[in-house]
Amino acid sequence: MTWVERLRTHEAICRRAPSAHNTQPWRPEYHADEIVIGFDPARSLPDSDPTGRDLALALGAFVETCLIVSAALDLPVAAAAGPRLVPDAHVYATPFTIADIEGRRVARGPYAPGYLDPVVVADLGPGIVHVPTGDLASDLAVADRWLFGTPAVAVELRDWLRLDPHHPRYHLDGLTDQALVLSRYEARFLGAALRAYPVTRRLGLPALLAATGRGLLRYEGSLLVLLADDDDHITAGRRLLRTWLALARHGLAVHPLSQLIDCPATAGRLAERVGGKPLAVFRVGRPLAEPVRSARR
Ligand SMILES: Cc1cc2nc3c(=O)[nH]c(=O)nc-3n(C[C@H](O)[C@H](O)[C@H](O)COP(=O)(O)O)c2cc1C
Repeated sequence: MTWVERLRTHEAICRRAPSAHNTQPWRPEYHADEIVIGFDPARSLPDSDPTGRDLALALGAFVETCLIVSAALDLPVAAAAGPRLVPDAHVYATPFTIADIEGRRVARGPYAPGYLDPVVVADLGPGIVHVPTGDLASDLAVADRWLFGTPAVAVELRDWLRLDPHHPRYHLDGLTDQALVLSRYEARFLGAALRAYPVTRRLGLPALLAATGRGLLRYEGSLLVLLADDDDHITAGRRLLRTWLALARHGLAVHPLSQLIDCPATAGRLAERVGGKPLAVFRVGRPLAEPVRSARR
């Protein structure tokens, strides 16, 4: 078996990579001696992610996941522009394993109070800034109101929600009620409100939904912000995945809150606060309940 064929037999593990709304946009094309990581435009988010930032981050996370899997299989593989995976002289050097990939998951429920150990943050390297949760609590309410109040963005979210276990794609992709930590009642309410969206928007749905998330950052905890080095968001996505895996090794889960960098008003304030261009912002902590394993195709 060639290296391409061996890696291909492990594609299901590579697909554990994270992506916004769990769209799983990657489309690996297997050639004789390289793998081109393309994407499916039907799995991009043109309205919520018009610049393609989250798409590139997800492709980068997928590339890094493939490299970790290739290292576990002892295959000498490297990442190249494209993005592509190509043969290399050495096996990719990584501390992470397939068990780390399988164990990683986003956790959206409550976290134990307490700030991150500054040594853990420093170990993540430069370009990652700590912000106390309380500092962004009111901006999160603004960003949530923007999210639910911007029709194209809210409708795109609705299309990726899987709020009922009978949804035909419940076990394949998107965001389930369980992943979002919603009770049956909350899931039904959100589903009904978004189905009747143009009407419920006028009735004040955005403010109501934003209010439900108001408490999320009202505890003594930590957010981390990943800053851009340059315009190469694929490389940043690789770094994002390594960061999440490194935190997981400390028993720490993450919960991205991308609306803070998608909403123009809060994005500007966050950039000013951290002194750079934020690419990802996420809550970090010890979840009080075990997070669910998300669906994959
Ligand atoms: C670039 C990027 C942006 C994301 N933004 C959000 C977000 O704003 N809110 C959220 O709850 N999850 C966000 N996520 C997490 C995804 O929804 C999550 O990775 C996906 O549902 C799969 O779940 P898993 O990571 O637990 O496997 C983001 C993930 C990525 C890679």
